[in-house]
Amino acid sequence: MGDERPIGVFDSGAGGLTVLRAIRDRLPLERTIYVADLLHFPYGPRYQHEVKTFAFDIIRYLESRDVKLVVIACNTATAAALNQARELFDVPIVGVISPGAQAAVEATRKGLVGVISTEGTRMSQEYLHAIKEVDPMIGVYQKACPELVDIVEAGEADSPLAEAALRRDLAEIVDLGADVLVLGCTHYPLLKGSIDRAFPGAFTLVDSAATTAAMVERRLDHARMRSELGDNDGDHELLVTATPDRLGEVAEILFGERVPHVREINLWD
Ligand code: DGL
Repeated sequence: MGDERPIGVFDSGAGGLTVLRAIRDRLPLERTIYVADLLHFPYGPRYQHEVKTFAFDIIRYLESRDVKLVVIACNTATAAALNQARELFDVPIVGVISPGAQAAVEATRKGLVGVISTEGTRMSQEYLHAIKEVDPMIGVYQKACPELVDIVEAGEADSPLAEAALRRDLAEIVDLGADVLVLGCTHYPLLKGSIDRAFPGAFTLVDSAATTAAMVERRLDHARMRSELGDNDGDHELLVTATPDRLGEVAEILFGERVPHVREINLWD
């Protein structure tokens, strides 16, 4: 018998939808519940303990919805909360940092990797440790690019504004000669077109969406928790913790289809 419980996925906003899409592409029979914590967006500039509290509250909510697995589809929240969350909750939890780090090490030919992320993720040094854990010889250059998150959330990922910000933010990494760029924030995969236009062919881009989806598949297989339902299309909930502005729009760009109605929930009374 299959396990028809949904997979819970969350982020501060629309960025985690890049991970959700990869999960849906890879595991089309699985039901999903996505929470965008717009009430506290952005997570990047906040204190780690704050982000950790939000993440725990969302995981608690998802547990109450009987999810079989939680994906922290946010690098900042993965850095702040993953290790402790695994100690606190029974539900299995997957983060986005180690799958991306692994993919970066496999992709670099020069042994030099650039990582762009929020300030919170950079300060945590989690990417540095995760990459060095796989191969301590790899050089890692990290840069926080908070402006890029706002640009994506505002639906401007494909604009001249985005390209100008990228030219500024990535210049040092290009000068240093990194051949791999880790998109260490789940908002950034939406900038791939603009990155290619600003620095054509400069890097192999690594985002953790596909690698995280692969890890989710492995975990479900290992625990024999795959859904065996037929076509589950439409069984995907999109929830927000504050009135959505552009989330539906960004989701439609990503999924190339109309997305389910976005519903507001109140987790913090
Ligand atoms: N998408 C999130 C991440 O991967 C964070 C964006 C933010 O809330 O600052 O880090």
